Amino acid sequence: MMSDVVQVADVFDALAAAAPEIRAGFAGRRGETDDRNATGDRQIHADLHADEVLRAHFGALDGVGQYASEECESVRDLGDGPLSVTVDPLDGSSNLGANNPTGTIVGVYDAPLPASGRDLIAAAYVLYGPLTTMVAATDDGVTRYEIAPDGRREGESVSLPADPTVYGFGGRLPDWTDDFTDYARDVEDELKLRYSGAMVADVNQVLTYGGVFAYPGLRDRPEGKLRTQFEAVPMAYIVETAGGASTDGRRSLLDVRPSELHERTPVYLGNDGLVRRAERALA
Ligand code: AHG
Repeated sequence: MMSDVVQVADVFDALAAAAPEIRAGFAGRRGETDDRNATGDRQIHADLHADEVLRAHFGALDGVGQYASEECESVRDLGDGPLSVTVDPLDGSSNLGANNPTGTIVGVYDAPLPASGRDLIAAAYVLYGPLTTMVAATDDGVTRYEIAPDGRREGESVSLPADPTVYGFGGRLPDWTDDFTDYARDVEDELKLRYSGAMVADVNQVLTYGGVFAYPGLRDRPEGKLRTQFEAVPMAYIVETAGGASTDGRRSLLDVRPSELHERTPVYLGNDGLVRRAERALA
């Protein structure tokens, strides 16, 4: 629908405008607050600042009705618009302590939250690296933009390279299952390790060079660490639209329907062959 196209373009514009403000807010906000978010993570000041900036930008859009953030317990109503927007305001924010990359993840749904990946009509992430870049996906394709400090941007279309070269797996080896450890050993023989501890940065490497990113189910935490609605589903949409694949171990992450806003899922994303091998190893 034409109105959807306009409203999604508004969301991407708002994110591109918010990104330099979020980045400018890192200085002086790298310390922890006394608060924890809905899933018990200690929040740092930059998490809360990023959430405020995004809520203000998305709240100003006619198209946005619901807003849900990893940093807030429940869904907020921002207006009467038909779209629901989810945000992980500062993914990998603990990286700020070491001045390493972080990101923002956004999902745009034409359904009330919580919603499945099949209700996504767009998704995007911003990477705060040496440059600020935004990767934005709709059903028509994926575009990578370099964002200038004034929010202006220039883009080029991206797709997942056919020849994979990198991998990045989260968690600690003693917590991995034997099946996942076997898969990791297999992958290590072929690909180069690239792991930063921020999903946005690690998936961005996969999208740039080809490969596989995973945060697996763990021995004592089969659901893994990453949040279905805020992290897994929007990133799966971007990777699948770029020509890759995703799985929770059994099915595409886009087929996972979260029953609760903050639930978690194992995540495997990247080139189709590597994702299918993960499914076989975990079956
Ligand atoms: P946080 O936002 O608390 O820094 O967590 C980051 C997330 C995700 O971005 C990343 O892939 C994963 O946690 C890293 O976790 P490990 O340090 O356990 O590998």
